[in-house]
Amino acid sequence: TPQPATAYAPSNIALSKYWGKRDKALNLPLNSSLSISLRDWGSTTRISPSSTDEVWFQDRLLPADDPFADKVLRFANRFRRDQMMPLKIETSNTIPTAAGLASSASGFAALTMALVQAFQLDLPDDTVSMFARLGSGSATRSLWHGFARWERGHANDGTDSFARPLEVRWPAFRIAIIPVDTGPKSHSSRDGMNHTVATSPLFGAWPAQAESDCTAIQNAVQDQNFQTLGQLAEANALAMHATMLAARPALSYLKPESWQVLETLWTARHEGLAAFATMDAGANVKLILEASSAADVKAIFPQSRLIAPFDPL
Ligand code: DP6
Repeated sequence: TPQPATAYAPSNIALSKYWGKRDKALNLPLNSSLSISLRDWGSTTRISPSSTDEVWFQDRLLPADDPFADKVLRFANRFRRDQMMPLKIETSNTIPTAAGLASSASGFAALTMALVQAFQLDLPDDTVSMFARLGSGSATRSLWHGFARWERGHANDGTDSFARPLEVRWPAFRIAIIPVDTGPKSHSSRDGMNHTVATSPLFGAWPAQAESDCTAIQNAVQDQNFQTLGQLAEANALAMHATMLAARPALSYLKPESWQVLETLWTARHEGLAAFATMDAGANVKLILEASSAADVKAIFPQSRLIAPFDPL
């Protein structure tokens, strides 16, 4: 029988993006990716034995036909041998709604860790990361604090496609979230990447470029070379969005306000600001900076929310 278990996982932002699957059922990517975890912004999942299956989100019991509840329970089925072990699964997010960040990465990472604990499975981290991948690709990278790299792997069964943390502590590293649009997004990243792979004539150039960006970004992280890291991460994110703009029909997660933020950033950078941008499957812009630029970023973008991924020295 399952034991009560609680797990926390941080959300993460990719500095080198995962975009495109070679296997949709197993969430196997066409390229490796690298992320930074957002420390206090994440998901906590609690699992307890119950008389009937229940999925709670932010202290609210979800109706049985809720698509999220269904996805969570189908994921839990991978861990329980039969339906004779009903579970109460409670998830809550500490990600401010106003930040408009997706939480499937931290949600599936926390759910995976809680299930592993509840069923007392003694699994190596590589395997836990692989299980998290089956929930959402970006969840592979959310099991740890700090930087993590998800290796694309080559096996058809996905046994070599999982993330590992990088042994890098960079106390001055910062992420600033600039909320642009907090409404629900028009297309999930899953649908967006599948549509791009299927229809964008520019997608052909992406996997090899993304793979080499990922390695170059990993080297910049390991060298703590901020300028190189920022330039590469911004170029990688814009190249990902370019593949979507070329999809047929076009897909644009970025809004006019997102481009406004980029214009302001590029002008400020021309005048000496050391900060770079990255954008995901939504309109919000995330800035990559170091502590020494935090006050300047706040002055230019008063609405920004600053995150320190590492403990101070
Ligand atoms: C743009 O992990 O949400 O944020 O595997 O279909 O669940 P699924 O997709 P998801 O995609 C994230 C895409 C991204 C880039 C990234 O996080 O690497």
